[in-house]
Amino acid sequence: MSSKYRSPVLDRRGFVKIVSSVVGSMMAAIVGLPAVQFFISPALRKTTEDEWIALGALENYPRDYPTLFNFTLTKVNGWERSSHSYGAFVFRKSGGDLVVFSDVCTHLSCRLSWDAERKVYFCPCHAATFDQDGKVISGPPPRDMDRYETRLEGDQLLIHLREG
Ligand code: FES
Repeated sequence: MSSKYRSPVLDRRGFVKIVSSVVGSMMAAIVGLPAVQFFISPALRKTTEDEWIALGALENYPRDYPTLFNFTLTKVNGWERSSHSYGAFVFRKSGGDLVVFSDVCTHLSCRLSWDAERKVYFCPCHAATFDQDGKVISGPPPRDMDRYETRLEGDQLLIHLREG
């Protein structure tokens, strides 16, 4: 090629450099994007904030006796994994009504227990008591016991766990 047809701006070497750079960048993107996506995907994953928890067959819970069901949930938030334990008092009244209470005291979140002799839920932290229907009898709790929303699927009892 004679020098009279040479481009003053881009010669062959310059063209090859640009094409190599573009092709190299495209190949790096093709190889690198899945790897980047793999590493950041846990942070982008949405965690469920509420869900239905199965407590087993309703018939397993005796009538007129609040029965505690304990369960643990493990949540994954990005790279962080945390486990929380929960408790639910299933109370089947002889009339057929069903109530499921949280076992967390509404004062400062201590765990309640059922005192069968006195027929009250008892909080050991500040000696609070709640009646069978979860209403405050004595002590500092500012409100009655929290209730879970319930649902039956066949004979299976489920409660709605809402976080936040
Ligand atoms: S935490 Fe239950 S009465 Fe204070």
